[in-house]
Amino acid sequence: MEILHYPVLHEPVLEYLALSTDEEAVMIDCTTGEGGHSNLFLSRFPRLHVIGIDRDKEIQKKAIERLSIYGERFTPVNAWFDDYLKSAESSSADRILFDLGISTFHYEESRRGFSFRKDERLDMRLNENATLSAATIVNTYAEEELADLIYRYGEERYSRRIARAFVEYREKKPIETSKEAEDIIFHAVPKEYRYGRISPATRTFQALRIEVNGELDRIKPSLLEAIRVLKSGGRLAVITFHSLEDRIVKWTFKEEAAKENPAIRIITKKPVIPDEKEEKENAPSRSAKLRVVEKI
Ligand SMILES: C[S@@+](CC[C@H](N)C(=O)[O-])C[C@H]1O[C@@H](n2cnc3c(N)ncnc32)[C@H](O)[C@@H]1O
Repeated sequence: MEILHYPVLHEPVLEYLALSTDEEAVMIDCTTGEGGHSNLFLSRFPRLHVIGIDRDKEIQKKAIERLSIYGERFTPVNAWFDDYLKSAESSSADRILFDLGISTFHYEESRRGFSFRKDERLDMRLNENATLSAATIVNTYAEEELADLIYRYGEERYSRRIARAFVEYREKKPIETSKEAEDIIFHAVPKEYRYGRISPATRTFQALRIEVNGELDRIKPSLLEAIRVLKSGGRLAVITFHSLEDRIVKWTFKEEAAKENPAIRIITKKPVIPDEKEEKENAPSRSAKLRVVEKI
């Protein structure tokens, strides 16, 4: 059997979202992925029903197979989580979880160009029916637009040089693969930046992925809907992987908790981060942060 890492921050997530074992409850896993968190909750809480959202059909297939042992206690939904939550009934869920971003599956197996270590079509779409791909962005966006997005979503200080290099390259031939994009970035940045702690392509690839899937724009509206959908006393947990995501979550929770008649109270005053053991065992968890709120 395939060995899967424990899902990120699984111990604190289980602890903060714990239910009593004889309680019937509903949890919405907004980012089911391969079903790691859902599996933990379904196995730990025998009367829990999980509604598992994911936009990506391919990874969702894996979760459906893995969680089939729970029968009707797991209901998969193929949708963007913001769309799903908008139409969900108010006060209908006991627990809501977001584990934002993409999964190891996307980098390693999806063949969609998420990783600059692989030579794949530059795609990056979670929704196979969407028209905007990473290749469309690098081949059609105006230079300034491209530079702005690499700066905004990648916090890349060489965004202008990278955008210029993309535009110069595509005047000769379209940019089609992840390796081609990585190579263009590598040569666009100063020599001393090429061999740093992270690859010079990391930030630009993050920016492209965020733009393709509208990742950041979906967070705040989804959190507000999630608060509406929670039952009173219900809990909402969000795991983020970079500061752009975390900032949105932190401020949305702060604003909502500071209102005159607040709908939530903040449970984690500071974000919970992985301990040394988890960091060692699961490198991608290094930048993870967990924030939890409770509906009043
Ligand atoms: C970090 S992974 C989740 C991993 C999961 N918690 C596990 O334990 O296996 C995030 C997942 O959310 C999906 N996703 C990201 N943004 C989404 C959105 N706005 N709507 C629906 N699914 C989304 C991705 O396709 C990916 O499978």
